[in-house]
Amino acid sequence: MSIKKIDIYGNASKKVITTLFVNEIDLKLRLLDFLRKNGLPIAYSCDGHGSCRKCSFNKDILSCQITVEDYLKSKEGLLIFDYL
Ligand code: FES
Repeated sequence: MSIKKIDIYGNASKKVITTLFVNEIDLKLRLLDFLRKNGLPIAYSCDGHGSCRKCSFNKDILSCQITVEDYLKSKEGLLIFDYL
């Protein structure tokens, strides 16, 4: 298996905040859970039910509604959070 990584870019800080490496178990996690597990302060208030929209990235994708695996397949490129 090739090593997969995700670059996290913060619009507020105008830089790549960190690069996270993904293992086999991480692939099945919701992206929100993966990011929080790695210490990123991703906002959320509906506990992943898809209603608060605080966990959105790349403008309008909800990190609680997509798995790490699906994000990597999506070809979204940088994962961008406005408030980081
Ligand atoms: S956590 Fe509320 S929409 Fe994702």
